[in-house]
Amino acid sequence: MRLGTARGHGVLAAQLLRPRAPPGSQRAGLPQIVSQDNILVRCPQTDRLGALQMFPKDTWYVAALPADIDGRPLGRRICGLQMVFFRGPEGQATALEDWCPHRGAPLSLGRVVDGRLVCGYHGLEMGHVGRTVAMPGQRVRGFAPIAAYPVVERHGFVWVWPGDASKADPALVPDLHWAGHPDWAYGGGLYHIACDYRLMVDNLMDLTHETYVHADSIGQPEIEDVAPVTRVEGDHVITSRVMHNISAPPFWRMALRSNGLADDVPVDRWQICHFTPPSHVMIEVGVAHAGHGGIDAPADKKAGSIVVDFITPETEHSIWYFWGMARNFKPHDKALTASIREGQGKIFAEDQQMLELQQRNHLLHPTRKLLGLNTDAGGVQARRIVERIVAAERAREAAGVELARATR
Ligand code: FES
Ligand SMILES: [Fe+2]
Repeated sequence: MRLGTARGHGVLAAQLLRPRAPPGSQRAGLPQIVSQDNILVRCPQTDRLGALQMFPKDTWYVAALPADIDGRPLGRRICGLQMVFFRGPEGQATALEDWCPHRGAPLSLGRVVDGRLVCGYHGLEMGHVGRTVAMPGQRVRGFAPIAAYPVVERHGFVWVWPGDASKADPALVPDLHWAGHPDWAYGGGLYHIACDYRLMVDNLMDLTHETYVHADSIGQPEIEDVAPVTRVEGDHVITSRVMHNISAPPFWRMALRSNGLADDVPVDRWQICHFTPPSHVMIEVGVAHAGHGGIDAPADKKAGSIVVDFITPETEHSIWYFWGMARNFKPHDKALTASIREGQGKIFAEDQQMLELQQRNHLLHPTRKLLGLNTDAGGVQARRIVERIVAAERAREAAGVELARATR
């Protein structure tokens, strides 16, 4: 499993985007998207800054963890935009285009000095709002500014808004009631996965796969015996499955024991998946000793938590997957947090190969029809919501372009 470090990112991005189109197939101005196997798959339309158009942009995405940008710049591509994250003069999280106005070097290869980003090539000093502040031996007044992206640091994450900055309202950052709360503990990690972000949403909104992909930890045959129920409330998709009077699978037996509960008695198990745009999936999961009310059982009869999934598109075919688990039992037990994190990390690593090779198949057969079964309802509904949002963004952009033309 590959952790999302700046260095790892560079290598992976190079693998994913290495342009090797057949001779004569490249169209000027459009990047060629190439799969891991160097198969040319499509030439997507791009906006002025080269961003791909298949994900919402006027929204907050998790870009990094606060510690990732402490003391050094972090280069990371988000929604097709190459960004550099660092801390400005007041320590504020900042995101700029990863482009030095001098010769186009990536500023992420430089260093941070007093809240300025010093280019690692010839020493240009970039300020946190995207304007050049100084350069050895040069007057910089006429240097073109670079793009700056709205950033908010909240709930233990660094959030970035890749779209229209005038719409970037910090109040729209999701409210994570558990974050920083003394009754809750959180542990998580970051995986880089070479798949369309919607495949990961599908995966998380249909937990039937647990029986097969995660057979040794959270999978169990009873999952298939209970059909999930999906409902849509505005832009919120909820897929629920409740299993009664079953034995707990290994991960949940460990959680019961950790909470001082017997792990060898029948339990009621719940999985309630919540999708909200653009790509956040929070899953209420847990087990309670059978007959005590399931998710509503008293605290001394259950072990439950929230699986936290923030899926940030890197490109059309790759994601930064911020995963974690928030729990409200034994919140001060740091060893338990570490052990749950390790267990969850192993479980989620099991999805990677499936998703990446599923993505490869889709790239090889882009027009081939897929089945839509009742278990797919959560992912299908999530896609409808995202498609509606993307269409509305495109319509707004087109209207803006028209207005600009008319007033020229
Ligand atoms: S490319 Fe950055 S200072 Fe020259
Ligand atoms: Fe999974």
